[in-house]
Amino acid sequence: MVERVALYPGSFDPLTNGHLDILSRARRLADRVIVAILENDEKVPLFTVAERIGMIREAIGEDPSVSVRSFSGLLVDFAKQEKATLIVRGLRAISDYEYELQMALMNRRFAPTIETVFLMAKEEFSYVSSRLVKEAARLRGDVTGLVPEAVRQRLIRKF
Ligand code: PNS
Repeated sequence: MVERVALYPGSFDPLTNGHLDILSRARRLADRVIVAILENDEKVPLFTVAERIGMIREAIGEDPSVSVRSFSGLLVDFAKQEKATLIVRGLRAISDYEYELQMALMNRRFAPTIETVFLMAKEEFSYVSSRLVKEAARLRGDVTGLVPEAVRQRLIRKF
């Protein structure tokens, strides 16, 4: 039987409970999920790639079906290298759709057999983004329940 591998790519700067919700849904679609963190993004990250990998590993605990990796270059090249046939992206509001559609179609142009699937997180996370979580934490807002506790602690230490 061919193992179905899904990539769940993103910046994860930092991981939110919305990301974790999407990850748990992705696990039901594939035998293995690789959380793939983009290195050398144009955006200046708050957390280093190593910190982000550490926080994600801590949040998922021991789960042999999930691995956490970083990648550079084209996502589809990393997907091919990892023999992944699915790319998972979370969709919140319709405002996410345009960018996601463009990215999915560009990825399909480069790799026609890799399918992008969009998953919706629980409604309670539909407004949660790494960007807003960082802003809230920087301004001393309480982000309890929006991110894993270990991430909340690290945000407090960063600011
Ligand atoms: O969480 P993000 O920041 O929205 O994730 C974006 C990400 C990392 C999925 C996207 O920027 C990406 O895949 N970058 C790698 C380069 C690439 O393949 N871009 C899409 C086709 S040009």
